Amino acid sequence: MKATSTLAIAGLSAGVGSTRIVHDIDLTVSSGEVHVVMGPNGAGKSTLSAAVMGKPGYTVTAGSVTLDGEDMLALPAWRRAVAGLHLVMQYPTEVPGVALDAVLLEALTARGAATDGLDELLRTEATAIGLDERLLHRALNVDLSGGEKKRNETLQLAVLRPRIAILDEIDSGLDLDALRACSRRIEAATQPSVDGPGLGVLAITHYNRLLTELRPDTVHILVRGRLVAEGGPELADQLEIEGYQAFAVAAGVADGEADVETKPVVRPGSLGELFANP
Ligand SMILES: Nc1ncnc2c1ncn2[C@@H]1O[C@H](COP(=O)(O)OP(=O)(O)OP(=O)(O)O)[C@@H](O)[C@H]1O
Ligand SMILES: [Mg+2]
Repeated sequence: MKATSTLAIAGLSAGVGSTRIVHDIDLTVSSGEVHVVMGPNGAGKSTLSAAVMGKPGYTVTAGSVTLDGEDMLALPAWRRAVAGLHLVMQYPTEVPGVALDAVLLEALTARGAATDGLDELLRTEATAIGLDERLLHRALNVDLSGGEKKRNETLQLAVLRPRIAILDEIDSGLDLDALRACSRRIEAATQPSVDGPGLGVLAITHYNRLLTELRPDTVHILVRGRLVAEGGPELADQLEIEGYQAFAVAAGVADGEADVETKPVVRPGSLGELFANP
């Protein structure tokens, strides 16, 4: 059985260009754990996920991201994915001309994983989350409904079997039945099996509904780019009653505080360095 994995985010500050959006983030997710990040619109949740996954256009200005000790920040996004990191994007990208089953075949091949019986596996997983089988052969996300895109993303997660997954609002756009089916599928993936330890999850959400299915170990609250509180699932209930402002005030990051701007740090050996020194 594979060993337990750990995604360690330490002192991470990141943003776009020279504008820092998230500041000094410390967060550790290990196999089988479910962490939830909640925060108001514009707090920097998607920026955090983009920086961790290596989405082009986002710059890390301080800190580190490692998966089982390997420096993720030195790798392009696809290599982070091969290493076992997975991002379900808030707004999944449409890729005309490339079918979902073709993407998964290539992705599994890049990982050196077996592809025998892939068609059968795709049909089984599609049935489990109520995804129309015909969508398996259609261009990735093109003209899919909001809910179909999120089911599609859940299927990719189930088939690729990453070690740690960041789910950026996987619950947005899903109807109640789909939300239950998708979150149950993800919850099942967090359980250890003969094949390895359970999936580690970092789920970004606005809704307590997801928490009832995913049963998080830890809830983190992100306001104005900073983690301001951390606790058990009861924190989400407290949030429902008090709102984000109370947490922001308590942490001294309420509206009105100036955000700090810094110059981006070019990491040695990174793509940023390549472009800085052509
Ligand atoms: N590529 C970008 N270019 C310019 N500004 C950006 C970019 N990405 C994020 N931002 C800004 O950074 C801030 C944080 O955005 P982000 O998408 O991370 O928030 P969020 O917490 O995910 O919000 P939501 O809950 O609405 O999804 C916002 O003010 C946003 O406009
Ligand atoms: Mg977002």
